[in-house]
Amino acid sequence: MTLSRTAAIRVVAPESSSTPARLAAGVAHGDAATIADISAGLLAPQASVSPKYFYDSLGSHLFEAICELPEYYPTRTEAAIFARHGADMAASVGPDATLIDLGAGNCAKAASLFPLLQPRQYVPVDISGDFLQRAAAQLRQRFPAIEVTPLVMDLSQPLALPRSVPVPRRQFFYPGSSIGNFTPHAAVAFLRQVRENVGADGGLLIGVDLVKDPTVLDAAYDDAIGVTAAFNLNLLRHLNHLAGANFEPAQWRHVAFFNDAESRIEMHLEARGALTVQWCGGERAFAQGERIHTENSYKYTVQGFSRLLADAGFRVDGIWTDDARWFAVMHAAAAYA
Ligand code: AVJ
Repeated sequence: MTLSRTAAIRVVAPESSSTPARLAAGVAHGDAATIADISAGLLAPQASVSPKYFYDSLGSHLFEAICELPEYYPTRTEAAIFARHGADMAASVGPDATLIDLGAGNCAKAASLFPLLQPRQYVPVDISGDFLQRAAAQLRQRFPAIEVTPLVMDLSQPLALPRSVPVPRRQFFYPGSSIGNFTPHAAVAFLRQVRENVGADGGLLIGVDLVKDPTVLDAAYDDAIGVTAAFNLNLLRHLNHLAGANFEPAQWRHVAFFNDAESRIEMHLEARGALTVQWCGGERAFAQGERIHTENSYKYTVQGFSRLLADAGFRVDGIWTDDARWFAVMHAAAAYA
């Protein structure tokens, strides 16, 4: 049995599975880069895992369920803004666009706007491949006039659209306040990439969650029946699959709160007791109460987010909010050629 050891990492050789005290890591289904990314996050002094790993098929379904929760106001508030101001948004976007939907999921939001936006081509982009293909197939049936060309892409990687996506009249669609997963600094970098992918006649229609009473925010990310907790804990099952880890979800607790100083919701998974986790190529002991940081969801003011868009090379030409100003949809056009 070979054991190589550093301060934090113990590599468990496959033969060691005969030792019952240390369950060997399971089979890893992720590629080497994914396993390395997960491993690095788990081994950092403050353990963290990217929120992109929430979205296996079950995770995508759990997120759909979150959107139905009474506490989770963003989806229905944004939908109400679309329903009320869709015609104005369509005027900003213009007809015959190539609508590129970033993190399309079930494509329902974009589809609800098709009658008004009338895109020529629809490009739903998502990391969850099976889920995306199913949604795309349904859309083709409902909207035979619109060319639907799904793209399976990881939005945390450099944004590079294939040639099959026409350059003229590219309009990006980034609803749901997914931009909130980035730090403000990373958000500008991401928006700048979007800017580089639209021509002088392109634009971006984006949903942004706004700063509000923290009790509303806390409830939205820690709902009464535990759907968000299940969504957070499902991450551990997905890590078991991707990295061959042996997380036991029952040993972890969902924690979510608004961090006022950073203007963000934070989600964590907290160890209920002292425990050890192994995965393909690594191991870590967690003390009782120790956390894995799984998500940030930044909340902005309209002014603050407008500044980010300007920094990224966009000119804001439309702002729509609900009466309570809980959520904003903004359209931004290329600020220069
Ligand atoms: C998909 C990133 C917009 O931050 O509100 C919902 C994800 N996490 N509940 C959000 C999420 C917990 C969601 N985004």
